[in-house]
Amino acid sequence: MPKHAVRLVLLLVIFGALAVAARYFLVDKSYYKYGYYRGDAVMEIAQDKPRYQGTAYCESCHSDKVSEWSKSVHNNPDAGKVVKCEVCHGPAGSRDPQQHYMHAATGRVHPDDLKMAIPTDTQALCKLCHEQTAGRPSQQRQIVVKDHAGALQCTLCHNPHSPGTFVGSLAAPEHRGDAEAGKGKIATCLDCHGANGISAGLPGPTLAGQNQTYLIATLTEYKTGKRNDPMMAPIAAAMSDADIKDIAAYFSSLKCKSAANTAEQTAAAHEAGASVCVNCHGANGSSADRGWPNLVGQSKDYIVGTLKAYAGGQRPNTAMNALAKGMNDADVEKLAAYYAGYSCK
Ligand code: HEC
Ligand code: HEC
Ligand code: HEC
Ligand code: HEC
Ligand code: HEC
Ligand code: HEC
Repeated sequence: MPKHAVRLVLLLVIFGALAVAARYFLVDKSYYKYGYYRGDAVMEIAQDKPRYQGTAYCESCHSDKVSEWSKSVHNNPDAGKVVKCEVCHGPAGSRDPQQHYMHAATGRVHPDDLKMAIPTDTQALCKLCHEQTAGRPSQQRQIVVKDHAGALQCTLCHNPHSPGTFVGSLAAPEHRGDAEAGKGKIATCLDCHGANGISAGLPGPTLAGQNQTYLIATLTEYKTGKRNDPMMAPIAAAMSDADIKDIAAYFSSLKCKSAANTAEQTAAAHEAGASVCVNCHGANGSSADRGWPNLVGQSKDYIVGTLKAYAGGQRPNTAMNALAKGMNDADVEKLAAYYAGYSCK
């Protein structure tokens, strides 16, 4: 055979060997089973268990969470704004990556053998959609996380399944008290709480204009011993539930307001380190929720005293304990001076 023909055959053999080696070593083993050319694979993958099961799936077992969520702002299909369960908890299904989608039956599903993640770092999670960002449309509710929450987790205050409702906020009482009847039951209170319920330096805090729901809750706590004070404990112990409601109705009807909330006040609150407080107590000491106390009209000493009682845990309240624990004496002074600046008008 001529030499060039031998070379040609040799070259062909080498190319052939390279091709076989490349096929053998470089191509994925599944190539012939699932190539792009294999139309059937699309159907097969489509029939596989979904990774995201959808909210209806959760309902059969977590109906309490689903019903909270479905009434919340996070489920607003009319506006096209729906934050489904699996956005926060991750997919309820998984596919076994080793199996290359071979069988529809592979992969795990919650709750059989897949545990759902419970988000613990809610700052990181909620920030994804709520951190104020220059390009974010203004219709989307936004906050500056640092000012709004400091280092606190969002779930300290927001119920994650219904974020417009707050952890620890109290429902308004079903039967409101009778303010007229209450007026006849408070003569002994005024020595310590001031005529008209405005304390002005007396041992007891201002009660005028205080939120009714809060007054009922806190007097009940004195009565049951959850909130402890040597002066108030015996007084509250002698009150019936009806007395408490009547007295709360009376004091909440008295006038104690602060000037309207302005942008300057909000700036001053930030300056005083109260940017987290204003969520609940307002920049001017008027609270956003009836279950939370107004701070208008309270003395500096009283505010300092309560913040220390929260920090030490003598006065138990989840939100206030967490907030007060992080404060040093200078913070407490500054905050107390700020809120004591709002007196009854
Ligand atoms: C067939 C019933 C069932 C369905 C459907 C179901 N779950 Fe669960 N889920 C459970 C059970 C049972 C537990 C408690 C498991 C445990 O404690 O290990 C649980 C626990 C959880 C937990 C807490 C995990 C933990 O570690 O304690 C979360 C979060 C959760 N489910 C979310 C979901 C979501 C979201 C869906 C819908 C996509 C869903 N579940 C659908 C039964 C179900
Ligand atoms: C915006 C995020 C978010 C969405 C949406 C959400 N969750 Fe949660 N879920 C959380 C967070 C955060 C926790 C942890 C709660 C805590 O730390 O108090 C939690 C806790 C849970 C738990 C376990 C806690 C417990 O009390 O046992 C279950 C179960 C659960 N969620 C189910 C659901 C279901 C079902 C849905 C859909 C209807 C849903 N979640 C939607 C954030 C979310
Ligand atoms: C210390 C309690 C507290 C913490 C912690 C907290 N919030 Fe809030 N948040 C509130 C209160 C109270 C309001 C309602 C304020 C009002 O009505 O004036 C609110 C309102 C909001 C609003 C609505 C704002 C608007 O303009 O309507 C968003 C969004 C929000 N919070 C997200 C978050 C996120 C995200 C986190 C976690 C990074 C978080 N919050 C942590 C108490 C808190
Ligand atoms: C995937 C995006 C997304 C995530 C994650 C998310 N949210 Fe929202 N949030 C929304 C949308 C959308 C709305 C509705 C806004 C509207 O209608 O203006 C909303 C509304 C709110 C509101 C307004 C409540 C009101 O009454 O006006 C609060 C508060 C809130 N979310 C808190 C949270 C908290 C706390 C978390 C974390 C546990 C969280 N969100 C996680 C998208 C998200
Ligand atoms: C001997 C003085 C004294 C008398 C009398 C007194 N109080 Fe008090 N009261 C106090 C003191 C001191 C506090 C603050 C205690 C604390 O820090 O828990 C207080 C706290 C309260 C609070 C909680 C206020 C808040 O903002 O948290 C209420 C409500 C209250 N008193 C109602 C009454 C009523 C109603 C009467 C009359 C039936 C009354 N007090 C009589 C001294 C008194
Ligand atoms: C999540 C909402 C929330 C935030 C944020 C908050 N508070 Fe409170 N605060 C409350 C509630 C609820 C109470 C009543 C707790 C109780 O019953 O003991 C309270 C009670 C108080 C009291 C006692 C009022 C009284 O009449 O006895 C003071 C003082 C106070 N807060 C100051 C602050 C300061 C200062 C900040 C900011 C560092 C702050 N709070 C942030 C909810 C909040």
